[in-house]
Amino acid sequence: MSRLSVFVHSWIPDELRARLESRFDVDSHDVFADGLLESEPLKERVGGSAGVLLLGAYVGAEIFEASAGTLRVVANIAVGVDNIDVDAATRNGVLVTNTPGVLDAPVADMSMALVLAVGRRLAEGDRYVRAGRFRTFPFSLLWSADIGGETLGIIGLGRIGKRVASRAQSFGMKVCYHNRNRLPDDEAAALGVEWRSLSDLLAEARYVVLLCPLTPETHHLIGAPELARMRSDAFLINVARGPVVHEQALVEALRKEEIAGAALDVYEFEPKVEPALWEMNNVVLTPHIASATRTTRLAMIDLAARNLEAALTGGDVPTPVNPEVLRRSS
Ligand code: GLV
Repeated sequence: MSRLSVFVHSWIPDELRARLESRFDVDSHDVFADGLLESEPLKERVGGSAGVLLLGAYVGAEIFEASAGTLRVVANIAVGVDNIDVDAATRNGVLVTNTPGVLDAPVADMSMALVLAVGRRLAEGDRYVRAGRFRTFPFSLLWSADIGGETLGIIGLGRIGKRVASRAQSFGMKVCYHNRNRLPDDEAAALGVEWRSLSDLLAEARYVVLLCPLTPETHHLIGAPELARMRSDAFLINVARGPVVHEQALVEALRKEEIAGAALDVYEFEPKVEPALWEMNNVVLTPHIASATRTTRLAMIDLAARNLEAALTGGDVPTPVNPEVLRRSS
């Protein structure tokens, strides 16, 4: 019996490569060495494959249509699936999977790290010391914002947001949230969080943390009017997806001092970062590393691979995004 083909659009560990090669014909593209593939070359490489282990690249309807009948699964190495046209996948009978759960704690840790970094001016302090400027007693140096006693507003209170809430509370912060679906009152009370309309949350919180998925509804959720609504001493922290924020509007709001600062792990036109942001001392910039502990990144790759293998060779698919495809084919 001929073997199924799999296209790996990612770096993967040697042991996993050996495991996949023992079961499938494997073609691969190393994203770290050679960058993300654009639509046309991706379509060519996916063509003829039954499964794709995918990092980062956008898989649109044209790819699902071109590989209809052959492609069976796209296993995304991320929890967010905004890089995949899931409706087109479903229409073409292709299962999409993601990696929820394994990255909740490190992304929550990173959210708090960015809150602390931008509030307490950590990156500025680091640059100050490295520049050899730490020469005298620094009593009046780098005065910063409080953490304890301040309000943290979470936009998108899912698994990760709930962990951020408990971390923030352990720092003595008050936590409010805005979400598509409001939590039942008893659950919100148990978590110690209060619901706010988006507009009220923006006006109240000293720290606004974005943790919502990128969807048509959340694209540019934070633009000029929303930034103008924020407190002038507030900080915006984005660990969700870049396009949730209108990046030019953010630059303008920072220039006009409508808000006090920002900490960004994701960017609207990633991996491009708006150069105006590089110049701003009150902005902390990290390169989409919220889930990047060694353990977690390896767990994400492993979960994605287990999804792909189960979809192609049988067994329960651990974390399907469009399980209706499985029901249809069983
Ligand atoms: C990372 O950004 C993810 O969606 O897992």
